[in-house]
Amino acid sequence: MNIPNPPIAHFNGQLLPLDQIHISPLDRGFIFGDGIYEVIPVYGGVALRACEHFERLQRSMDEIRLRNPHSVDEWIALTAKLLEHHPGNQSVYIQVTRGAPKNRDHVIPKDLAPTVFMMCYPLASPSHEQVENGVACVTARDFRWEKCQIKSTSLLGNVLARQISADAGATETILLRDGMVTEASASNVFVVKNGVVAAPPRDNLILLGITYDLLVRLAEQGSVRLEIRPITEGELRAADEVWLTSSTKEVLAVTTLDGKPVGTGKPGAIFRRMHALYQEHKATLAPRRAAVA
Ligand code: PDD
Repeated sequence: MNIPNPPIAHFNGQLLPLDQIHISPLDRGFIFGDGIYEVIPVYGGVALRACEHFERLQRSMDEIRLRNPHSVDEWIALTAKLLEHHPGNQSVYIQVTRGAPKNRDHVIPKDLAPTVFMMCYPLASPSHEQVENGVACVTARDFRWEKCQIKSTSLLGNVLARQISADAGATETILLRDGMVTEASASNVFVVKNGVVAAPPRDNLILLGITYDLLVRLAEQGSVRLEIRPITEGELRAADEVWLTSSTKEVLAVTTLDGKPVGTGKPGAIFRRMHALYQEHKATLAPRRAAVA
């Protein structure tokens, strides 16, 4: 089956070609960035950890006092409908904004129907070269707000942070707040020292990745020692291994940081183990059509 061009997207209950969707300029997503989103990886038609993504969507909505128009089961059914048109490996993007009121006013309007938008695009998984050699990162001050646990569409802080690494020809910007590692512009960060993995706390200063949680579980199952605790800038710079995780990056080794090698400058042994565990986990997803795991 061919992927439709333009792709089919979901807009407020309807499936439409992407280029036929029109959103009001008064939509609070456009005016204020007043919305939340999710990105779910799909392998061979099977969405990875869809329930966890929709549970996080609910947490984001609760944080911004937005009514969820759908139950998790309904979201999963909508995702399956969309995937019927998009076989293979996909990223499903889901965005819910507070909707389109009649006027621009910061105050949250009562009884406004949220705007629901979903689309798919081919999943850009890391290349063989990136997995084998790792990627370059730079560091920057985490100048974002104090509610990073919300997967908000207001991403200007993340966009500006990411551009710092883009300008340096690097893959990600690892963020430091008050001398501590938080996360990267669009991924979580793990460090390894003397065989022990560390991940920053699950607090308001990071987006708690679905991949972060999966990695913690896989480490436990694979008897890899992992601690969740604050990580200092010094520990980041002295680490044997540094990794990035996200739904699209999976787990990726960082081999240079601010132009200096991380550890040996090659992806480390614990990275290889976790990468293998992650690939094994993916392989357990039976290639059913439009299914969830
Ligand atoms: N980004 N931290 C930030 C700031 C992120 O934007 C992301 C994901 C993550 C990792 O979360 P997860 O493992 O659930 O993908 C951490 C997505 C992929 C994006 O915005 O495209």
